[in-house]
Amino acid sequence: MSNYVCIGGQYGDEGKGRVVDLLSNRFDVVVRFNGSCNAGHTIWADGKKWVVHLMPSGVLHSGTSNVIGPGVLVDPKVLTEEINMCIDGGLFDSNSTDRLVISPLCHLVFWHHRVRDGVNDIGDNWVGSTKRGVGPAYSDKVSRLGVRIADLLHLSFDQLREKLKAVSGDAALPEDRHLQKWKDIIKPFVGDTTEFLLNKDEEGKRILFEGAQGYGLDIDFGSYPYVTSSNCVAAYAAVGAGVPHSLLGETIAITKAYSTRVGTGPFPTQLNRVEDERLRHLGGEFGATTGRPRACGWLDLVQLRDARRKTGFKYLALTKLDIFSGLDNVKACIAYKNVSTGEQRITPLETAEQWEGWEPVYVDFNNFGEIPYQLSSLEELPSTARQFVTFVEQYVGAKLAILSYGPERESALILEGLE
Ligand code: IMP
Repeated sequence: MSNYVCIGGQYGDEGKGRVVDLLSNRFDVVVRFNGSCNAGHTIWADGKKWVVHLMPSGVLHSGTSNVIGPGVLVDPKVLTEEINMCIDGGLFDSNSTDRLVISPLCHLVFWHHRVRDGVNDIGDNWVGSTKRGVGPAYSDKVSRLGVRIADLLHLSFDQLREKLKAVSGDAALPEDRHLQKWKDIIKPFVGDTTEFLLNKDEEGKRILFEGAQGYGLDIDFGSYPYVTSSNCVAAYAAVGAGVPHSLLGETIAITKAYSTRVGTGPFPTQLNRVEDERLRHLGGEFGATTGRPRACGWLDLVQLRDARRKTGFKYLALTKLDIFSGLDNVKACIAYKNVSTGEQRITPLETAEQWEGWEPVYVDFNNFGEIPYQLSSLEELPSTARQFVTFVEQYVGAKLAILSYGPERESALILEGLE
């Protein structure tokens, strides 16, 4: 078995796009299985920055097939823009049906979903959504009122608008010219993604399942209700890609060396204003999708260990270690402590309200040292940085497979487990 699932171990933005891009040349197929254009993957290749929201991160490697599985919500406007960007950038053309395959079962997100997202996500229930219409579109899906790519291809536009009217009224229904444009651009790439993946597997090709968002935002296991609307755990890769779970292989979880969060919701290791600002600027922590500043905190090992227990990842990819270069003091959270009773726990609390009166217990890593510009092994790390990495592996119970210490493709060590 040489397929892998790659998921976020934190609150999203862990650098999954970068890791998948790094791994893509070892895999023949990259599949997106959850989320929507609420995700934004930033990839640097040959000095050029690419930001993709729906496109699997394998598109930048010419030998890789990219699949958008049925678990992904597709905004047709965003998808067609990204297809055009790839065509204009010379990555593929509209005959490249082995480079991009899109499931006809993907549900669609329309403008009215964005409007509803903006209206719902205010007041006491404010989640800080990306306003990409994701919650309302997933709601329509489970309410059995959704519209899928298959509908765009096979229904008349009037029939399609009738379906949309059931939930949106007359508001912001897409015009024929838009529907026609989306249909023309998307259609050549639509295919039976299950068949495609099973055939690739039978031919002995390697498949990488690429998750969006992260464990802390999972609809079932994250900090509900401050979560996204799909599952981000590895098990969902089978559902969202439309394949038997026996195809999945091992899981690799991505984590930054510190934590970030956008939107609202509990963030136990969040730093005070001055330190938060410092880490944000050192790490360039502004959202790829919304440009929003991300709140910053120390690495929460309790959360990561919990993610390992519930998703079963065997390997870790640690990103942005270089951001700690030269810092006098770095911390990692190893428990939560109740300030009144002194009780300590190593599992997260279940409700946002319960966090009141709990604080993180930290372990310190002093004099972090300078991370070299180029590394050929972990032994070349300064001693504190090396201790930090070993501590993370041991606490979480997973093996470090990738260490990323800069934005360029070269600034990463691929260690083991992925051969
Ligand atoms: P939604 O998925 O846009 O509905 O947003 C729900 C929550 O998930 C909000 O707190 C968002 O900030 C967060 N979120 C959604 N997608 C991402 C992502 O790709 N990275 C980080 N946070 C995200």
